[in-house]
Amino acid sequence: MDVFHTPEAARNFVSALRSQGRTVGFVPTMGALHDGHLSLVDAAMNCDAAVASIFVNPTQFGPDEDLDKYPRTLTSDLEKLKTAGVSAVFVPTKEQMYPDGFSTSVNPPLVSESLEGTCRPGHFRGVVTVVLKLLNAVPASHAYFGKKDYQQWRVIEAMVRDLDLGTRIIGCETVREDDGLAMSSRNRYLTDEERVRALLLSSALQAVEDAYQAGETRTSILQASMRHTLLGENDSGRVASDAGLQSRPCLDTLQYATVVSAHDLTPLSSIDRPAVALIAGMIGSTRLIDNRELGPT
Ligand code: PAF
Repeated sequence: MDVFHTPEAARNFVSALRSQGRTVGFVPTMGALHDGHLSLVDAAMNCDAAVASIFVNPTQFGPDEDLDKYPRTLTSDLEKLKTAGVSAVFVPTKEQMYPDGFSTSVNPPLVSESLEGTCRPGHFRGVVTVVLKLLNAVPASHAYFGKKDYQQWRVIEAMVRDLDLGTRIIGCETVREDDGLAMSSRNRYLTDEERVRALLLSSALQAVEDAYQAGETRTSILQASMRHTLLGENDSGRVASDAGLQSRPCLDTLQYATVVSAHDLTPLSSIDRPAVALIAGMIGSTRLIDNRELGPT
């Protein structure tokens, strides 16, 4: 497996394959690889060659976010990618990606403006700018993103379409632990007690899926059901602890629990087209997100 540190070296490698008519599947990552990433690599192996990148992109982290403590596990990441059959890995330094004087950025598409875009100002500008730079270094035929970061997938899809990049963007299913927790590099921050409460996200989404399968299509009802699970609310909507009842486990902060159109993430009053239920919230100091597609996709 080749490891390239400069955009030029990565581009030469990938361009040579593409000029021979070969397909190249690209998996951009920030490292700290888990089985979710490896499922993207598995999908990329359907191409003639698979290439990954590892770069903890500082511009997509807000000033109060976890850039400094984000796990960096390069040696074991490279080992996992080699075992998975990846042909090459692009591992640039911060200085290579953002040299002195760097000042250009991509304006993210409309679909970036709600949800994560509201909670994490500047996040998607950082994401689309780095993904464009990564796709310039790795001009792949296909690129693979996890649907766990559902809005990120839709934002990148829109950016690639709007800027005519020609790479096919493929969203891959979320990989979960046996108990339903969506895999994430941030799960390692959770204490044992927080890890138990983290299951509230997948439980809330399962309850929404069950209600939808039973015929409920009103998003107000589905959203109320998620709040009920996530905030430990009793049936009248009051939080159990406020109502003097025994309190149920809950998130420390709920940022959103919503059901929106799956394609452009616009609000829906009822599920009359492909939809997605999305949740973001804090457990202790860890921010978790999860989602579930509802209806035909
Ligand atoms: O999903 C990620 O790991 C990152 O946001 C990405 C797409 C590699 C860009 O830094």
